[in-house]
Parts: sequence; C-alpha cells; structure tokens
Amino acid sequence: MKTLRTGFHLMLVCLSLLGTTHITFAKETQHDKPTNATGKVASPLVVIPEALQYCTVCHGTQFKGDFATGAPNLTGLPDWYLTKQLTAFKNKSRGAHANDLSGHEMRAAAESLDDATILLAVDTITRIPYIDSMPTTHWQRLAFKAAQDDVKHTNKESQTLTPSINNGKKLYATCAACHGNQAEGNPALKAPPLTGLNRWYMAKQLLHFKQGIRGNQSNDPASMQMKAAASILKSNQDIVDVVTYINALNQQELP
Ligand code: HEC
Ligand code: HEC
Repeated sequence: MKTLRTGFHLMLVCLSLLGTTHITFAKETQHDKPTNATGKVASPLVVIPEALQYCTVCHGTQFKGDFATGAPNLTGLPDWYLTKQLTAFKNKSRGAHANDLSGHEMRAAAESLDDATILLAVDTITRIPYIDSMPTTHWQRLAFKAAQDDVKHTNKESQTLTPSINNGKKLYATCAACHGNQAEGNPALKAPPLTGLNRWYMAKQLLHFKQGIRGNQSNDPASMQMKAAASILKSNQDIVDVVTYINALNQQELP
C-alpha cells in the first residue's frame, strides 16, 4: 500500500511537471470491465511514457478516445489486437485507402513506430483500467457525419435513425460466430471484443468495412473476412441496430 501511494504521488509530481493541472474523472467512470486479455492489475492512473505522449493528443488522456479527432477509446482492447492494428497501420494494410481520412491520421502516427515502441504502447494501454468515455446523445449523427466527410458524401443516409434492438439481435447472430455471443472477442479468429467500443466508432468502422475502405488488403485476410461479414448490413439502419444491440450486451450507456 505504501509503495502504491508513493507511486501515485510520484506520478502526480510527474504529471504536474508535464503541465497537467487538472486530473478529473468527472465525466467518465473507470472500472475493471471488460477486463483486458492480459489480466494485468489495473492501477488508478497510468503514467504515459514520453514516447507515447503524442498519442494522447488525438486519443485523449489515458487513451479514453476523442470524437473530435476520430481517435477511439483504446482502453479494454486486448494486447494481441492492439499489436495487430499498430502493425497494420505501420505496414499500410490499414489506413491506406484514399477515402479513409481518419485512417490516414493514424497511419501517419504509426509510420515511425519501431517494435520496441509498439510493445511499450501495448503494455501501457493494457495497464489502463477500462474507461466509459464521452457520453453524448448524438452518436449516430457523429458517426455518419464523420463517415460521410470521409467518403465525400457518397453515403446519403445521415439522418438519426430509431434503433431496433430486435433487428440488431437478429443481425448479430452472424457476428457472434467470430466475435462471440457476448461480443467478448476470439483471439483464434483475430476478432476483437466489441464491448466497450464507442458506438460512433463502431458504426463508422462498419460503414468503412462495407464500403471496402477497411479490409481491402490481400495481405490481411482477417480484416478481409470482416469486410465480407459487413456485407450483411444492408443500410445505415442495420448498422445502427447492430451497434445498439452490441452496446446493450455491454449494458453500459456508451456513446
Ligand atoms: C493524429 C491523431 C492520432 C495520433 C497522434 C495517434 N492516433 Fe491512433 N488513431 C487515430 C484515429 C483517427 C484512429 C481511428 C482510425 C480509423 O477510423 O480507422 C486511430 C486508431 C488507433 C488504433 C486502432 C483502434 C481499433 O479499435 O482498431 C490503435 C491501436 C491506435 N490508434 C493506437 C495509437 C497509438 C499507440 C498512438 C501513438 C503511438 C496513436 N494511436 C497516435 C488517431 C491518432
Ligand atoms: C468471419 C469472422 C467475423 C465475422 C462473421 C464478423 N467479424 Fe467483425 N471482425 C472480425 C475480425 C477478424 C476483425 C478485425 C479486423 C482487423 O484486424 O482489421 C473484426 C473487426 C470488427 C470491428 C472493428 C473493431 C475495431 O476496434 O476497430 C467491428 C466494429 C466489428 N468487427 C463488428 C462486427 C459485426 C457487427 C459483425 C456482424 C455483422 C461482425 N463484426 C462479423 C471478424 C469477424
């Protein structure tokens, strides 16, 4: 306990040295669910190493995500999935499509990452307790507006749709084959857990898979499988429904 407290004080000192004056979790709650795949013990506030400070410019404090930059919440994602995505961005198998503007941002950030920094990033992120972040009632508008900007207005359906959880449940039966009944993920199939992902981010990714903006590289067969799976989502209504169902599985009001 003493060491913990000393560690915490040391961390506060470090944070004030870095000029962080406000440490507040007023808007989001930290807890252990979903637990990350490594089963590491969560600490109250994880010090972000200097080499990763620039990540938080987009991903926000403690990697909790920031809609304004399109950078998702990374807390709760398992080590194997984070490693795979960072490598994919670095190798340009993700984020290379001409219409993937948010992907371009992340690809540029990943370009210069060496293996040691990828390891450091994955280790740091998986030590951060899961954070419910960014409450907003406008997630659909945000998701589709962002996707629309990216695809240069080829996506016409941007109105706010009324979710049907029953339709979402029906659609999710296909997804469960890879992502699991509780959306807990399946490392053997490289399918990540979906509980805990922001709704706006999920909706945008599903649209991107459907449009072949993500999952279009033959050197990434897992991602191509996800692209194929997304073709059962016929409309933005289907996307809204399935995302609403996944969010309900988590029983948390995530944005
Ligand atoms: C310039 C802004 C920016 C910076 C800096 C940045 N990211 Fe990102 N990151 C993004 C965006 C935007 C996305 C979402 C890409 C998309 O929509 O496909 C993303 C996606 C990711 C993903 C994939 C998440 C998922 O669920 O698939 C990981 C992992 C990630 N970033 C880690 C990092 C790490 C680690 C750093 C620092 C080394 C970093 N990012 C720096 C903007 C940024
Ligand atoms: C054949 C197996 C498979 C099926 C079926 C499948 N997925 Fe996936 N899904 C994956 C894999 C593999 C990935 C990781 C892709 C990557 O590495 O880029 C993924 C990624 C995703 C992501 C992006 C996660 C992130 O953090 O960026 C979402 C959202 C998603 N799936 C939702 C769904 C939904 C909703 C369905 C049902 C309509 C579905 N998936 C069906 C295998 C599958």
